[in-house]
Amino acid sequence: MLQTVPASSEKADAPKDTILSVDNIEVVYNEYVLVLRGLSLTVERGSITALLGANGAGKSTTLKAISGLLKSEDGEITRGSITFDGQIISHQEPERTVRSGIFQVMEGRRIIQDMTVLENLKLGAFTRSDGGVKDDIDLVYSYFPRLKERTGLAGYLSGGEQQMLAIGRAMMARPKLILMDEPSMGLSPLLVKEVFGIIKRLNEDFGVTILLVEQNAAMALACARHGYIMENGKIVLDGPAEELRENEDIKEFYLGGSGERKSFKNIKSFKRRKRWL
Ligand SMILES: Nc1ncnc2c1ncn2[C@@H]1O[C@H](COP(=O)(O)OP(=O)(O)O)[C@@H](O)[C@H]1O
Ligand SMILES: [Mg+2]
Repeated sequence: MLQTVPASSEKADAPKDTILSVDNIEVVYNEYVLVLRGLSLTVERGSITALLGANGAGKSTTLKAISGLLKSEDGEITRGSITFDGQIISHQEPERTVRSGIFQVMEGRRIIQDMTVLENLKLGAFTRSDGGVKDDIDLVYSYFPRLKERTGLAGYLSGGEQQMLAIGRAMMARPKLILMDEPSMGLSPLLVKEVFGIIKRLNEDFGVTILLVEQNAAMALACARHGYIMENGKIVLDGPAEELRENEDIKEFYLGGSGERKSFKNIKSFKRRKRWL
């Protein structure tokens, strides 16, 4: 069974326990398309950290750089480093990264359509040789009771159920860090709320750290502790989630307002932080 660990408290004066550190990385696709241009971020152990940005900013690329899945898309980290739990993982094979405790939930709910729910869940546990897999399947069903009722092929599940299965499969790996790529994509507002509620519960119940990539900034900042905003392959702003929620530029940019998406570069009141340049 997964052990229930209380999520660490949010005291500002407590020393920061960093589980993941991405330091100044550059990522290039096909040997010449530079997509990440000196991106740095840290994720505190036990937290939910949000990585926000418009379409094409490089959010998915950042997650793939961490999980090692870049290689399968002819992408490469050409500068900088990524450290997870004290180990440098920048050029590690993806399977080793899964074994070291990182599991990515891909964008677009990449479950195996012609396998059952149960087979998909077992697949998530492929790196495990302990005897707890059966108990963890029951545990996943307790979080997603609807999945237990679905005995057919996963391809017949609704969009929301497929997203839940993708998250359940990640839990089966017993990861320390889950990388989640746009879990809200394509879901109705009601389902988005439900999925985010479950993400928050998993974080609180198991202390699993979550790096959450989203275009839905309002939802992500409502459950995250810290947020990063990226644009054009770089972080342009970061801060505690509650501060970002109140930040006028972010409200204007992401949380409604004019409706037209502006670039941060063109917002006068926005001061680029020197350390990210
Ligand atoms: N496999 C790839 N090969 C070449 N370019 C890519 C590849 N994947 C993504 N890109 C480019 O990298 C940029 C960032 O993409 P991505 O990381 O998917 O952004 P986001 O997830 O923020 O929408 C985009 O300009 C995209 O076209
Ligand atoms: Mg993406």
